[in-house]
This record gives sequence, C-alpha cells and structure tokens, in this order.
Amino acid sequence: METNYCIPFFTILIQLMSTVNSQLNCPATDPAINYRPVIGIVSHPGDGASGRLNSSSDVSYIAASYVKFAEMGGARVIPIIYTDPPEIINQKLNLVNGIIFTGGRTKKGPYFEVVKGIFEKVLEKNDAGEHFPLLAICLGFELITMIISKDNNILEEFSASHQASTVQFVENIKLEGTVFGRFPPALLEKMTTHCLVMQNHRFGISPEGLQANKDLCSFFRILTTSVDKENKVYVSSMQAQRYPVTALQWHPEKAVFEWGSSQIPHTEDAIQVTQNVANYFVSEARKSPNKPATNKLLDNLIYNYSPSYAGKVRGSFEEVYLFTPRPTLSSL
Ligand SMILES: *[C@@H]1O[C@H](CO)[C@@H](O)[C@H](O)[C@H]1NC(C)=O
Repeated sequence: METNYCIPFFTILIQLMSTVNSQLNCPATDPAINYRPVIGIVSHPGDGASGRLNSSSDVSYIAASYVKFAEMGGARVIPIIYTDPPEIINQKLNLVNGIIFTGGRTKKGPYFEVVKGIFEKVLEKNDAGEHFPLLAICLGFELITMIISKDNNILEEFSASHQASTVQFVENIKLEGTVFGRFPPALLEKMTTHCLVMQNHRFGISPEGLQANKDLCSFFRILTTSVDKENKVYVSSMQAQRYPVTALQWHPEKAVFEWGSSQIPHTEDAIQVTQNVANYFVSEARKSPNKPATNKLLDNLIYNYSPSYAGKVRGSFEEVYLFTPRPTLSSL
C-alpha cells in the first residue's frame, strides 16, 4: 500500500502557519497615507481608431492601457471627459488624487484649453498644500512644455515614431524622489544600454531648447535624454523642481498593454520599467489626502464604461474607452 506523505506534511505546515499568523501583529496603517487613491485620466479627441469605431466629431477616447497602468499601481480611475462642461470637470478633479495626461496628437482647440485649465488646477492644488501629482506622457509632455514656456511653437521636430530607445541619465543626477528613485539599480543600468522604453513622437524638445526658455528650465529638471532615428538628442524624462509633476516623452503603459506595433518592447526588463513607473506615480497619489465620499466616486469610476476592441479594426490601441459629451447640466 502506498503512503501519502504529503498530507501529514501539509497538516504540520498549516498548523505552523496558523501559529505564526496568530502571533503576527499587523501594524496600524499610516494615517498620512491615502490607501484608496483614484487617478483622473483626461480623454483625447477621436476614437483612437481613425473613426473606425466611432466617427462622430465630438467623440473622445482613453486608451485602456492608461487605465490598466494606473490600476497596476494600485489605484482606481475616473475618466475626465474633456468635452464635459467645466463644472463637471472641476467636480471630478475634486474626486481624484492625481492626473494622467495621455499620448495623442491634438495640440490646439478645446482639448488644449481643457488640458491647460487642468494643469493650472494641478499647480493650484499643490500650491494650496494638497499633494496632487501629474504624470504627463508623450503628447502630455509636449502640451505642458508648451503651456509652461507660454510658447506654442517651442517644440522641435524629431524622428522617433515607433521607436524603442534607451535613456541616458543626466550626469551626476540625483534620482532620489524622482520617478526613477526606487528603480532597482541594475534596471537603471540596463535602461542605458537596452531599448526598454517605447517612443512614438514626431515632436519634442532638445536639452538646449529647454535650457533656452527661462520658464521651462526653472520649472523642470531634465532626468534623461534619448536619441531619435537621426541621432538628434531630445529630453525624454523630466521632473518638476517644486511640484510632483513628471513628464515622460516615452510610453510607460505600452510595454505591458499594447501590441499593435512590433517595436514595443515586451521583455521582462521593459515590463519592470512599466511596473516601476506605475508604482512611483500611484505612491505619489497616495500622498494626496483627498478622500471623497464613496457614493460620489461610484457613478464616476471607469467601471461605468466598457472598452471597445480597437486593435481588431487596426486602431492605434488594443482597447479604448469611448465617450460622447453628456447633455449640459441645464438640460438634465
Ligand atoms: C458613437 O456615435 C454615435 C453617432 O454616430 C453616437 O450616437 C454614440 O453615442 C457614439 N458614442 C459612443 C461612446 O459610442
């Protein structure tokens, strides 16, 4: 007869674990930390699929990769639909603990004005003592560069469409407290030699261009540069000196969640870069003390919407959330 040695072994193990558990004294949570952070993500004009999902002129979208990126860091998401009336956008800003400006292509019109207004609110909240982080990715990087410099022509052309790249850290840079502050040192090292980050932009700013603008160089410090396909150097990561504002010309969300371009790196190292950026950004949001009542959150969370499968119709993203403007408040 066979004896099953596993059962007695597990029994002992479980007994052992329960004694350890009963002795474990879970420390009280830190009252200074907000363990239920919510991130607002601003929608971008269009459907993210050249009209193949929805061609109405007032539709806007958020690629689901940004939503999942925030969720991966331990946050929930509220979409900030840029076509909504300003009152609604303001109410939503008071429900969240941080903002993401996504990639995209629109640099003018109502979208630009809404992003500018939200950026000003981000600074206002921080100036008033509320820690309120912003992560500006790709187009977001470019828009806040234009807004801070007060120069809508400050961007330069670069050739970095569908290009994975390395990043080079500015010499003697102190990374503590920045987006790279808690990256494993070996991963930071690899980022300088391996193409772990995904670029997809035709505009950007050179270190010289940034330094030449007083407002920009007093607001930001450059963390990394990268080179485009023609060996032109541009700023790829920067961090505000006095605000929890991080701007990345590259796309941290793509390595884990987007598959449409064969250039997107999907190595374990690239995935770790994404995870570390998400961890950093949401850890900043946990410093925001704003804790709205649950019933105010529920109607606004992204769970009220379902994404569409854009990758299947040759869209730029695998999944997108689509939004059409809601009726104005007065007509409700
Ligand atoms: C898509 O387009 C139609 C109009 O063609 C519109 O009625 C619909 O609500 C749109 N929005 C979304 C989010 O699908």
